[in-house]
Amino acid sequence: MDRKPQIIIRDNLSALAGTGADIFAASAIENVINKGRFVTAISGGSTPGPMHRLLSRDPYLSEIPWNKTHIFWVDERCVPVSRTESNYGEARKRFLDIVPIPSDHIHNISVEVPPEEGALRYQRELIKFFGLKRGEFPVFDLIFMGIGADGHTASIYPKSSALEENKKLMLSVKGGDPLVHRLTMILPVLNNAKKIIFLVSGKDKSEIIGDIIMQRQKGLPAEMIKPAHGEIIWLIDREAASLLTEIIL
Ligand code: 6PG
Repeated sequence: MDRKPQIIIRDNLSALAGTGADIFAASAIENVINKGRFVTAISGGSTPGPMHRLLSRDPYLSEIPWNKTHIFWVDERCVPVSRTESNYGEARKRFLDIVPIPSDHIHNISVEVPPEEGALRYQRELIKFFGLKRGEFPVFDLIFMGIGADGHTASIYPKSSALEENKKLMLSVKGGDPLVHRLTMILPVLNNAKKIIFLVSGKDKSEIIGDIIMQRQKGLPAEMIKPAHGEIIWLIDREAASLLTEIIL
């Protein structure tokens, strides 16, 4: 049995957002003090919305060293930035257009080119930013992940070939809801992070949370998130945690 996961349960999504923002701020401050910059990757979807909006307000607006913070994306939908499905577009509206982060510290995934080209471009950006040699993977200080009720995470869907990829850093896939082309980081990139936070809310996620936290080994993408040298924290609300038994808590 893998080591016991770290689980933080909050009453509701609003409380979850507050804890997520606290972790973001603490990690940013710690990494800037220790190494002069904070490099994080965020996911899309609806769950992170309240946390992102909190980041645009005090105390986070003034506490976080935005001028030394770099934001990457775990994945992106290949849709126009103006559409609400755009992870980058939504993050801009929720906090990035408000916080004093230098524009070249916002590393959005380009969707104006064909998906395969977009994946290659982001891969090149990761290699350049992290100074990677062949076969190396980036080390993010903190990655925020979401999870679908089907057990997908990032844009890695159950039974997809993306689960086997261990060479490229970014893949172009098609799937999800909306059913569009998506560009996603692969498991070795995600598992190389120093810290991974799963942010999960809602009754519709309770079954998948039960399966994963109770380690029922269903071979789901979210189960493959096991940072080799880092820690993983499940930040979940009461509804999503409703099927967890006391033996795991
Ligand atoms: C995406 C996300 C995806 C998301 C989950 C949960 O771009 O769709 O990266 O992995 O985190 O689908 O989405 P919700 O928070 O909307 O439930």
